[in-house]
Amino acid sequence: MRIQQHRRYLMCRPEHFTVSYRINPWMEPATPTDTDRALSQWQALYDTYLDLGHEVELIDPVPGLPDMVYTANGGFVIDGRALGVRFRVDERRGEEQPFMDWFAADGLEVVRPQAVQEGEGDFLLVGQAILGGSGFRSSPDSHREIAEVFGREVVSLTLVDPRFYHLDTAIAVLDPVEGPGGVDRANIAYLPSAFDAASQRLLAERYPDAVRVSDADGAVFGLNAASDGYNVFVSPRATGFAAQLQERGYNPVAVDLSELLLGGGGIKCCTLELRGAR
Ligand code: ARG
Repeated sequence: MRIQQHRRYLMCRPEHFTVSYRINPWMEPATPTDTDRALSQWQALYDTYLDLGHEVELIDPVPGLPDMVYTANGGFVIDGRALGVRFRVDERRGEEQPFMDWFAADGLEVVRPQAVQEGEGDFLLVGQAILGGSGFRSSPDSHREIAEVFGREVVSLTLVDPRFYHLDTAIAVLDPVEGPGGVDRANIAYLPSAFDAASQRLLAERYPDAVRVSDADGAVFGLNAASDGYNVFVSPRATGFAAQLQERGYNPVAVDLSELLLGGGGIKCCTLELRGAR
């Protein structure tokens, strides 16, 4: 039995979306992008969330910050507290302050970060713990920092494949539900080959029921998925993953963000979860 949970998300309309620099292997500045197409695909994701009863907040896009559509990199929010981000790459540092300003205006307590980290791109809340990614963008120091800021266990994982440079490209959180009596029923899906051997062992021990996704589904960004505990918003190209989800009682909802993949982002990248009521 799967339980749909209410979600409050932050998104950013890709009005200024383009690929003008290359900070991950998916980005090819020489290949033209179609901003109108990005906008209509993004709109379909936005409408899908609303149709299913979720709340979506919007942050104003800033000209000259084409990656701002990937709001997952804007922060990490739990219990009314928002940790801001510090991007590794200069191209995105202009996004840091607008996101912190948005959190403050929303009434969240804002914590300005010290260490380099890219928000929910590399930090995922699973049950009571935070999974933290490093290897490409967020620094190991940021794992210690976020553990202190939120007073939670942080499980550090190392990414090794440059195509999967953020943790949310290699792990999807399917079910953050806490079972009765504090039993952690949280579950994830992941792409084993995106991690080093130690991280693979850790994931296998900690999440024996996890969905292990094939390299083929990983390569089409299938793991960059959002879930409300029942509906899993996933790329239509990740057909094997969708079948695995269905077998386990989830409802895969296909949303095509192929234009945004030209920037190296997908469904989860465009979705920041705001946890804790306003
Ligand atoms: N072009 C962006 C970057 O490389 C894409 C970010 C994708 N976001 C994510 N949460 N994985 O920073």
